[in-house]
Amino acid sequence: MRTEILVVDRENPGEEPIMRAARVIRGGGLVAFPTETVYGLGADALSAVAVQKIFRAKGRPADNPLIVHVAAKEEAALVGQLDERSRRLTDLFWPGPLTLVIRAAGAVPKEVTGGLDTVAVRMPAHPVAIALIKSSGVPLAAPSANRSGRPSPTTAGAVLEDLRDRVELILDAGSTAVGVESTVIDVTGEHPVLLRPGGVPLEDLDEAVGPVILPTGGRGKERSPGTRYRHYAPSIPVILVEAGQVRAEGLRLAGWGTPAAYVGMSPPPAGAAASVRFTSVEGYARGLFSALRELERSGAEVILAELPAEEGVGLAVRDRLARAASGTEGPLDHWP
Ligand code: TXA
Ligand code: MG
Repeated sequence: MRTEILVVDRENPGEEPIMRAARVIRGGGLVAFPTETVYGLGADALSAVAVQKIFRAKGRPADNPLIVHVAAKEEAALVGQLDERSRRLTDLFWPGPLTLVIRAAGAVPKEVTGGLDTVAVRMPAHPVAIALIKSSGVPLAAPSANRSGRPSPTTAGAVLEDLRDRVELILDAGSTAVGVESTVIDVTGEHPVLLRPGGVPLEDLDEAVGPVILPTGGRGKERSPGTRYRHYAPSIPVILVEAGQVRAEGLRLAGWGTPAAYVGMSPPPAGAAASVRFTSVEGYARGLFSALRELERSGAEVILAELPAEEGVGLAVRDRLARAASGTEGPLDHWP
């Protein structure tokens, strides 16, 4: 298959490209589409055969369940059970970067849920995504449109880099606004549990339906299958530094003689081989994944990444950086 790219306007995608994409979905094929968080790799969520293609294209482990994307709040009831607390959350945060894990309804194939009795569902805040779901007439199962383990794509170019000739069509509406994936919370128990920090800050959820529990083991390791795997990793090692330590760590790296790239909010250390600097934590979230992709191409052999403060969307940025850095192999394996 040859991947086709259709450039569309975010606000006014136009009927023709959306109809073409919807035909691919109805025919059981794959379409990469923009959401406000990252690009998704979509298929008909009610077709087991179509959903299996997602796993093949991404090289994704079959036991890692997918998020079902709906075009209206009421449609969530087609795939699972919404109680009063979930409705409160959808009223406050949908459309938007919040995914709810709820009890699954019978119609959802086990390929989507990974065999669990729960299902993850969200309504994205992106006119192109909404138009595509509506025009397809079915909810869309969609993980991030990257090869499994790679940084999520925030542009159509990044989708192409990972999935060229593995996806039939890419709807290209430019860069995504949030940049990190949705916040995932499990609302099946007595207290909501944070499975993955993301675009909706934990503080906002605490205020709405708190207390939100952070599972032991950190960041939902046991609860959300996807968070078990190494993730978001560029092809060169990532070394984390706390804010304020960038200069010292940078000098140490220079002492090793290893060309280092830098990403963070503090000024880059002297001698950085390449750098991307953000002036706000929202900017950091928006630009993080494309910065990782850019810096791995820079010729540097390691990326020094500054962790933002643990508040707001900073929690999600820290989480993604920690995953990008974990399991790092290579010359700096023994880095203190
Ligand atoms: O922003 C996003 O959420 C993007 C866009 C495309 O919507 N999607 C995304 O999907 O990040 P994915 O597949 O890369 O991440 C989905 C996460 C995984 O960690 C997965 O394990 C978890 O949601 N998940 C899905 N269904 C679940 C379930 N029933 N129970 C627990 N965790 C679930
Ligand atoms: Mg993903």
